[in-house]
Formats: sequence, structure tokens, C-alpha cells
Amino acid sequence: MIRRKLECMGDRGFTSTQLAARAAYLLRGNDLGTMTSAAPRLYPHMWSWDAAFVSVGLAPLSVERAVVELDTLLSAQWKNGMIPHIVFANGVDGYFPGPARWETGQLAAHAPTEPQTSGITQPPVHAIAVQRILDHSRRHGRTTRAVAEEFLDRRWENLVRWHRWLAEARDIEDNGRIALFHGWESGMDNSPRWDASYRNVVAGVMPPYVREDHAVITDASQRPTNNEYDRYIWLVEEMKHAGYDDAALATKMSFAVEDVFVSAVFAMACDVLATIGEEHSKPNSDVRELRGWAEKFRKGVIATTDQRSGAARDYDLRAGRWISTDTIAMFAPLLCGGLAREQERTLLRTFEGTRFCGHPDLRYAVPPSTSPVSRDFRPREYWRGPVWPVITWLFSWAFSRRGWAERSLNLREEGLRQASDGSFAEYYEPFTGEPLGSMQQSWTAAAVLDWLG
Ligand code: SER
Repeated sequence: MIRRKLECMGDRGFTSTQLAARAAYLLRGNDLGTMTSAAPRLYPHMWSWDAAFVSVGLAPLSVERAVVELDTLLSAQWKNGMIPHIVFANGVDGYFPGPARWETGQLAAHAPTEPQTSGITQPPVHAIAVQRILDHSRRHGRTTRAVAEEFLDRRWENLVRWHRWLAEARDIEDNGRIALFHGWESGMDNSPRWDASYRNVVAGVMPPYVREDHAVITDASQRPTNNEYDRYIWLVEEMKHAGYDDAALATKMSFAVEDVFVSAVFAMACDVLATIGEEHSKPNSDVRELRGWAEKFRKGVIATTDQRSGAARDYDLRAGRWISTDTIAMFAPLLCGGLAREQERTLLRTFEGTRFCGHPDLRYAVPPSTSPVSRDFRPREYWRGPVWPVITWLFSWAFSRRGWAERSLNLREEGLRQASDGSFAEYYEPFTGEPLGSMQQSWTAAAVLDWLG
């Protein structure tokens, strides 16, 4: 029934069949060979969490190509286990900060020299992609199934090492929460979540730089400010100074926060990977370890929540202060579970109520990155208000996993209505539905392909 409804959904545009074809065409267009650029001009390289979502979208088109995407990403994994947030495409310019600014090959003991990478990480959504690849491979014949299984056998150890690095090197307080040393590591660069922590970052003397993003997104109000950029780039200098060393970062970085959203994603991803491990006869010790981390980080997330509302909080390690914001991060426990029943019901009501998806002026009932009733809300400015389709997808996927089929379908249906304009925008203005940021964003196409797959 939903499918039929979607076929005629085109209040502004394309039917689901047309939309799927355009999304597939987009991914083909952004394909650089063994990696898909996150977006054709704004992000001309591979980003870590983008690559995972892109694989989710590639899986229904070609399991083989989805596997290549993750293989490329994992071939850039650092020796300490970190998956870097950018894998640079060879010989491609047009993005700042590029490899010459990060200098990881020269300064970081654990970084590969080839391919070139950035020196920070991003949210660990990769197990979800592996699961989707395996799901799709089961619909095919023996050859495709073998490709997916061979990939899992070959990369299982990489995936467990990645999770172990997060659980050990990044749980610096040993409390089941992941510490980040750069706002970019959250994926939600300029979210109001990080405003107070960034105020304590004082940019020192550093080599001059030129932002490349403004050459692509000429409306500067859709991007982080220059003030914010100075701090982003300064933190890269601090990391270089620390030689990108895990222990040194933990003590030296002037930005250090526990990210509750990343911690919840990690708890969820550990469970997903553990289940994959069980189903594919991976070592019991790995599966046990993954389940242990899932449990520990779920508890870590729940320990941040408000007793009454169930809303989750980040923590500023430098200021020693909780960070409460009206942003999607407050819904972290809905991803990983663990709240008491009444608290969970209250938090779901907030998610669906007038502070978020149920705000009466929203064009589509999908979660804005920051609540429209928050003082910090700015409807066009990156993570300060716009709707990000990939986040709608993540909640829709997680809700389905938690057994909330109707909620999941509602998000899917509204997400698809929003995407029916065919622009595959990076983010959308919540009230008008205007597409913003980069158009032709790979992960937006991927979300649509998974929804329609
Ligand atoms: N999202 C960042 C950018 O805008 C980097 O991860 O470049």
C-alpha cells in the first residue's frame, strides 16, 4: 500500500521508479572507480560514514560494487584500528583541508602513506552497511553470496579492530562513551551541541588557508562561519603537534567531548556486528567482546539521560560540564535502546511531537537537526536546523530494528516525499523543503535507494 502511495507521491516531482533510477544514475556519476565521492564538487573524496551509507545504497544495485566501496575504505584503516574520516582520491584537488594540510603520512605513526587520509575519525555506522550487503547478497545466486562472504572473512578482523580502537582508545574515561577531539568527528560539524566547547578553542598562529567550500556553496549562510572554520583548522594544527597520537590527543587537545550520539551508534553497531559474527561462525571471543561493548556503551548512553524526559546529553571533558541541547543527539537512546519503558515513551513523544517531527510548520514530518523551537535553530545553516535525509534514514532503519515498524515506515514515507524533488540535496530547509548545501549528495541517493529497494 505504501508503495502504491509513493508511486503517486509526486507532489513536486518524480515517482518512486523514476527516483530510484535517478539515484542509481547519481551514484554512477559520482563513482571514481573504487570509491564514490561524497558529492561531486563540495566533497570530491571518500568520507568514512558517507562511504558506509553509500554502500547501503549500492548493495541493491550491485553487491560487488558495494563491497569494493568498503574495501577501499578499509584499505585506508590506520594501524591502530582507526578508520579515518577522509580517504583522499588520488590527484583530486578542490577540497580544503587536503592531504598537504593534514600531513598524516609524515606525522602519524599509524597512518598509511598510501592512500592519503585525514587524521580524525567519524561515526561508526559501517556494520550497518555490512549487514545490508549480506542481506542483499542472499537474494542473489551463489557467486554474489560468495563475494559478500569472502569480503566478510577477509575484513572481519579489520571491523573488529575498528570497534576495539573506539572502545579502547576513545573511551578515555572508561565509562562507555566515545570521546571526540574535533567536531567533524561527530559528523555534525557546527551543531549547537559543540558551541560552548568551541568557545574554549583559541586559534593560535597557523599557516593561512583558503576555504574551498565557498567556491561551491556560494550562499555562505548555508555553511559554517569563518570563525568556526578557524577553530576547525586550528584543531588540525593541535593534532599535528600531538603527532596524531591517541594518548597525546586525550590530554592535549583543547576540544574534547563525549559524544552521546556516536556512542549510541557504536552500541548499536557492536550488536549488529556481533549478530553477523554469530551467523557467520566468527570467533566466539570476538562476538563476546562486541556484545560486551554494546552493553557497556548502551549503559554509557543511558547514564547521560534526563530522568524524566529520557533525553541524552553530551559531555564536555575540558569544561567538566554536561551539554544539553535540543538537537537530534537527544534521541540517541532511541537508536541503541536501554531506557526504562516510561522514559522511552516520553522521548518518543518528543521525537514525534511539536518540538521535532510534529512541528506544525514542517513541510515533511522528518527530524530537523536542531529543534525549530530552540533558540539555536537556524533553518538554512548546515547542522543548526536543516533536515538531513541520511539522518532520517538512520532513524528509520534503527526504528525498524527496534521493532517499531510503523514509525520506521512513516519516516521512510516522509523522507521519500521530501526526496521526490530529485535534487538529492545534502540537507533541506525544514519549513519550505528547499534543497540546500550540495546537490547530488551520494548518501542522499543511497538512502532513497535503500528505501525503494
Ligand atoms: N563535513 C566537513 C566539511 O564540511 C568535513 O568532514 O568539509
